[in-house]
Amino acid sequence: MEQLAHQQAETLAAIAAAASADALETIRIAALGKQGWISALLKTLGAMTPDQRSVEGPRIHAARESVTAALAARKADLENAELEQRLARETIDLTLPAPERPRGSIHPVSQVMDELAEIFADMGFAVASGPEIEDDWHNFTALNMPETHPARAMHDTFYFPDQDAAGRSMLLRTHTSPVQIRTMLAVVEKNPGGAPLRIIAPGRVYRSDSDATHTPMFHQVEGLVIDKGIHLGHLKWTLETFLKAYFERDDIVLRLRPSYFPFTEPSVEVDVGYTLVSGKRVLGGSEGWMELLGSGMVNRKVIEMGGLDPDVWQGFAFGVGVDRLAMLKYGMDDLRAFFDGDGRWLAHYGFGAGDVPTLSAGVGTQAGARA
Ligand code: DAH
Repeated sequence: MEQLAHQQAETLAAIAAAASADALETIRIAALGKQGWISALLKTLGAMTPDQRSVEGPRIHAARESVTAALAARKADLENAELEQRLARETIDLTLPAPERPRGSIHPVSQVMDELAEIFADMGFAVASGPEIEDDWHNFTALNMPETHPARAMHDTFYFPDQDAAGRSMLLRTHTSPVQIRTMLAVVEKNPGGAPLRIIAPGRVYRSDSDATHTPMFHQVEGLVIDKGIHLGHLKWTLETFLKAYFERDDIVLRLRPSYFPFTEPSVEVDVGYTLVSGKRVLGGSEGWMELLGSGMVNRKVIEMGGLDPDVWQGFAFGVGVDRLAMLKYGMDDLRAFFDGDGRWLAHYGFGAGDVPTLSAGVGTQAGARA
């Protein structure tokens, strides 16, 4: 047992002299590890007589405890010493000027959405929203696209593999149009007579598509008006008023072309006229046309799906890409850069927190891009 006392003393001395966590670990393994000397002694207890064990057991356990405690104490000492050293090394000169903080900026998409809310609020529209994880019924069926409808195929939909708890097929909404249904149903729930309503619904939408002008996530704004006696003239006036305010030009000219969407009847595709100024397209005038948005009179079936009587209520709706609106106004040409999160792009195209769009101060250009 001289042996034990000797080994214990040696181990404790080594611990006291250890200069690093690594050195301590080596000592710990040599004593307490599987092959360590204390572990080996513990194994001998089984073969001892009860008398021997009652003498040797406490000695071996005491050795184990003292080594364990010494290891922990030394470890704490080493850590403290390191902290002290670091604190002595690191000094902060509080008299230095504060570093210039990088200034955040408002993303053009957020800015344009604020501009839209401002313009439409002035025409009596509220802002509505709906979920991005949508069910098949709201995204398609209720918009007059039953399961077999060919228009579904054009949406490049991201479907979820499993149904939700209620057994509904779920997807990432492919457009903001399902907010039309949700808004009508919510109005009817509050007031069984339903309507009138005037909303815009800006938000994210998703399609499996990617190139310079398509990203798997992009933004749309939906518009919906439901009232009595609504006709195409209201739609045209609303879009004209909106686009003149948005582009801040009185010479915006629209061209309505017959088109097809399952949820509108009749459907119109709206083009906006441009003028060529030294080879560049500038909105305004009618030298050429570019396609801008889809719209139409809300299909009777959709009004019914919204819980309203189409013999009493009529409406118009439109849907337009927010990113595209931003590109046309602020001159970006690659949609993908919108979502790269590159600080340089944001510094160039972003807006300051003070650039709040108001109709009186102008919703855009003069408040806008700090290029
Ligand atoms: N939901 C259509 C799309 O994503 C856009 C659209 C067209 C919306 C016509 C409308 C509308 O409300 O009336 O392509």
